[in-house]
Amino acid sequence: MQPAVRASFWAQAHYVVRPLEEDDINEEYVGWLNDPQTNRYLSSIRPGSTVTIASQRAYVRRILRSADNTIFGLFCADGRLVGTSGVQNLNLPDRSPWIGVLIGPKECRGLGLGTRLVWIVTHLLFSQFRVNKVYAGMLASNVPSYKAFLKAGYRREAANKRSNEPHPEGENPHAFVVSCSPGGLVTPETLGITAVRILGNGTENQGIGSEGPSDEGAVCRSD
Ligand SMILES: CC(C)(COP(=O)(O)OP(=O)(O)OC[C@H]1O[C@@H](n2cnc3c(N)ncnc32)[C@H](O)[C@@H]1OP(=O)(O)O)[C@@H](O)C(=O)NCCC(=O)NCCS
Repeated sequence: MQPAVRASFWAQAHYVVRPLEEDDINEEYVGWLNDPQTNRYLSSIRPGSTVTIASQRAYVRRILRSADNTIFGLFCADGRLVGTSGVQNLNLPDRSPWIGVLIGPKECRGLGLGTRLVWIVTHLLFSQFRVNKVYAGMLASNVPSYKAFLKAGYRREAANKRSNEPHPEGENPHAFVVSCSPGGLVTPETLGITAVRILGNGTENQGIGSEGPSDEGAVCRSD
């Protein structure tokens, strides 16, 4: 059962981060997951397999039923899903989950969204899920991912920290493991985030900054 936690933030435009629902899974999302240039970095996709709307809905359904894992979607102001962030091992005794991020549309990459998604999900984990530390692992070749985590406030861990997560390229393919402790995140302003609103787990409208105009459009567009 997933807690009803959501966040919204402003960074030139309005974005919402909330747990993904089955109905959010559409052709566009499945297209990102089937793109070999993207899925080579995603540990949840087996090489050579094809993700369908039905298989991804089943995958998300399993996550939503689990107490230990969750998956957030990142939505533009117009409701378009542009990214996801999976969280694993939320309830292990050390309360130190692992996260991964994906910005799907290629035209939305390189704009700072990945860094902001790392920041807001990590902020949610510390403020709403009371975790002690957050980890992420990535291939050494995944420079945008490594930079996004570092820019949000993560630091490189000792190389021998192992992910529990199986990965198609081997048991422990993560050349880089990064982590963040409470207090490690950069300030939202550093990333151009001018307002944050958190809703959930009894903490209502915990805000940072002032919200921008509600009718401002999305920065990411596919057309
Ligand atoms: C990794 C990912 C989430 C980064 O998201 P993004 O929105 O493109 O990243 P940002 O715009 O926040 O950029 C983060 C940093 O990477 C750099 N960067 C972005 N694209 C880059 C590229 N193609 N080559 C080199 N550096 C790049 C940015 O310049 C920025 O660094 P800087 O602040 O020093 O300039 C996105 O590329 C993605 O979804 N990739 C496919 C899935 C994936 O690899 N997920 C991570 C699994 S661990």
